[in-house]
Amino acid sequence: MIYHHDIDLARTTDALAIAELSRDAIEYGLAWRWTTRRVMHSIHDADTNVVVARQGIGVAGFGIMQYGQEEAHLALLAVRGAQRRHGLGSALLAWLEATARVAGCKLLRLEVRITNPGAMAFYRQRGFEEAGVAVGYYEGVEDAVRMLKRLSAPDAA
Ligand SMILES: CC(C)(COP(=O)(O)OP(=O)(O)OC[C@H]1O[C@@H](n2cnc3c(N)ncnc32)[C@H](O)[C@@H]1OP(=O)(O)O)[C@@H](O)C(=O)NCCC(=O)NCCS
Repeated sequence: MIYHHDIDLARTTDALAIAELSRDAIEYGLAWRWTTRRVMHSIHDADTNVVVARQGIGVAGFGIMQYGQEEAHLALLAVRGAQRRHGLGSALLAWLEATARVAGCKLLRLEVRITNPGAMAFYRQRGFEEAGVAVGYYEGVEDAVRMLKRLSAPDAA
């Protein structure tokens, strides 16, 4: 079981591990867009949170959320293969969701590869609903399923 205190804001020294996990777990078969440099940029961006779940000295999972006025966008979420189904993905998402609520966001949105039913099941279980298909979203070769979750105010949560 992982608890919230194991979830931490990423440091610049985590950027390489995060980028490699994105490449291997999310961007497989596509061009590598979330490079170390881009992750580093997100870590320093005031409107983005990059969080990691640490296990030992390594990064077991991470999430990247971009915050707007009314909505927040979950750009990436991944857990290392061997560490899945132990609650890390849920803990990372819960941290980012709570932060979005506190920031006053009313809506969370994300895209998931249409060939990834496991992730869709995970998000559905966490209150997200499917909200359409973005045809060719991934380099014109794969569609994305858009998913949304409406957030309640912090005091009503
Ligand atoms: C999606 C992902 C982040 C979930 O992380 P995780 O740490 O395994 O998630 P949790 O352990 O918190 O999962 C909790 C629940 O979600 C559901 N779930 C998770 N993975 C699932 C899968 N592959 N198929 C069906 N349900 C799944 C289950 O209900 C699970 O509970 P259970 O293990 O008791 O059955 C992880 O599988 C992953 O990194 N996948 C590859 C990258 C990816 O697809 N990212 C999302 C798109 S950006």
